[in-house]
Amino acid sequence: AFKIQLNSTGDVLDVPADKSIVEVLAEVGIEIPVSCEQGICGTCLTPVLQGTPDHKDLVLTEEEHEDNDQMTLCCSRALTDLLVLDL
Ligand code: FES
Repeated sequence: AFKIQLNSTGDVLDVPADKSIVEVLAEVGIEIPVSCEQGICGTCLTPVLQGTPDHKDLVLTEEEHEDNDQMTLCCSRALTDLLVLDL
C-alpha cells in the first residue's frame, strides 16, 4: 500500500494493494478518463510532482519511465510511500 496526495487540495488518500489509483480516486468523486485500463492506451496519463512511480504500463518509453514525471493511473503503482499527483 502507498498514499497519493492531490496537489490541488492537499488531500492524502490510501491506495490499498487490491485497488488501482483510478479506483481510489473514483471513491472520492474524481473521475480519471480511462480506456484500456491495462497500461496500453495512455488515456489516464497524469503528471507526477513528487515520489517515484512503479510503472506498469507499456505506453511510455524506458526514458519516460526514468523521468518519473508522469504515470498511468489505471495500473501503475508507487515505489515511494507517497506520490503527489497534479490533480
Ligand atoms: Fe489505458 Fe490507463 S487507461 S493506459
